[in-house]
Amino acid sequence: MKNIAVIGTGYVGLVSGAGISDFGHNVVCADIDKNKIKHLQNGEIPIYEPGLQELVNRNVQSARLSFSSDVNKSIEDADVIFIAVGTPEGENGASDLTAVLDVARAIGKNLNSYKVICTKSTVPIGTGAKISKIINETSNNLLEFDYVSNPEFLREGSAVKDFLWPDRVIIGASNVRAFDIMKNVYRPLYINETPVIETTIETAELIKYASNAFLSVKISYMNEIANMCDEIGADVHVVSKAMGIDGRISPKFLHPGPGFGGSCFPKDTKALVSMAEKYGTNLNVVESAITANQLQKERMVKKLFKLLNNDVKGKTIAVLGLAFKAQTDDVRESPSINIIDALINNGANVKAFDPAANDNMKKLFEDLDTYMSWEETVKDADCVVIMTEWNEFRGIDLSKLKELVKHPNLLDCRNILKIDDLEKQGFNYDNVGRKKR
Ligand SMILES: NC(=O)c1ccc[n+]([C@@H]2O[C@H](COP(=O)([O-])OP(=O)(O)OC[C@H]3O[C@@H](n4cnc5c(N)ncnc54)[C@H](O)[C@@H]3O)[C@@H](O)[C@H]2O)c1
Repeated sequence: MKNIAVIGTGYVGLVSGAGISDFGHNVVCADIDKNKIKHLQNGEIPIYEPGLQELVNRNVQSARLSFSSDVNKSIEDADVIFIAVGTPEGENGASDLTAVLDVARAIGKNLNSYKVICTKSTVPIGTGAKISKIINETSNNLLEFDYVSNPEFLREGSAVKDFLWPDRVIIGASNVRAFDIMKNVYRPLYINETPVIETTIETAELIKYASNAFLSVKISYMNEIANMCDEIGADVHVVSKAMGIDGRISPKFLHPGPGFGGSCFPKDTKALVSMAEKYGTNLNVVESAITANQLQKERMVKKLFKLLNNDVKGKTIAVLGLAFKAQTDDVRESPSINIIDALINNGANVKAFDPAANDNMKKLFEDLDTYMSWEETVKDADCVVIMTEWNEFRGIDLSKLKELVKHPNLLDCRNILKIDDLEKQGFNYDNVGRKKR
């Protein structure tokens, strides 16, 4: 059993900290956000993530998991320190490493014994070397430590499951001692025979970006095929199903939509392109995926406006779904932001609802009119737009919807409603690559 500190208690840090304590270690999750820590100490989970409350409760009750805003003490008491702070988009698409390097300095100042310093945040190639240098400088080279890169692949919405039963674990380190300590941290996963890739620090750092960029390319590619379907009258769902049967392609990530969002793909693709430039290589495919994604978000706005004959001023639009995907409250880079922004700028009245993300979207649009159910939201609307694939939107009763709205105009950016039912109810509708008429 190890004493572990996880620095940064956001989507990744909180899930990882709770998950590692579930593996049997003593974990303190530390954050400079005192308010967040106070909520956690009171048993309140500050994010929406299925299964997280139970995981946290279970480990707090077993006295293996605690929360602290004293980052320095958390570092002092730990054998292994995970860095899980944010790495947002910085200048020219490069990663902003301010928080990561702040933590590195704090570690250097509080290094009181041999420790493993392990980065979970997504950081550019070469950051490991940078962190090690800072720790050496701030600790006056007095004490030994090992640096490990352990990128995280959990997905918001299924983060608990992804952390406890990952497809693979990547460990980048430079000596056997560090690999052995990480093996101990992840012991249950080794016992389960989860694939573990042990590699160099730089390779581990690149694996994370290469994976996220590949998935982004797959999404953008399918979105462009869907757009082609729109123009030629083909059905993208049949196209993607037939493509996915081919084992070389796989059926995952072939679902078209309003463009990818979230806190990872948009910034990680840009950061990878920025790294490629720095190293004098090209990533034309990834650059194109970024452009295609921006255009996809704009295309959804155009589709919506077209449904209303480009006359949105004074119209009431119901936006169903604000999170960048279902099962999360995260609205970072959500395609809903582009839709709401365009509607407000063109004088429309926006009514919005998300089962988990109303509050987060209100931080971006203070005056946004939010509701607690889809029924209240669509009442007297001139048009409804579905932006997130929440199950409760899949189950919408279209006859009830038609009764509630003022005009039956509907844009389904997630292709979750049945076209036959929309036709039967006489909706003026559009979708992404499946429209019938
Ligand atoms: N969100 C995801 O789905 C996901 C998945 C895999 C990897 N990642 C990567 O993990 C990292 C964290 O992402 P996130 O979504 O959890 O971020 P987040 O914004 O939800 O959380 C970051 C936390 O770090 C804290 N913090 C900032 N500076 C700090 C400091 N100096 N000391 C202590 N705490 C500090 C913040 O208060 C915040 O609570 C990023 O690099 C991200 O790219 C995210």
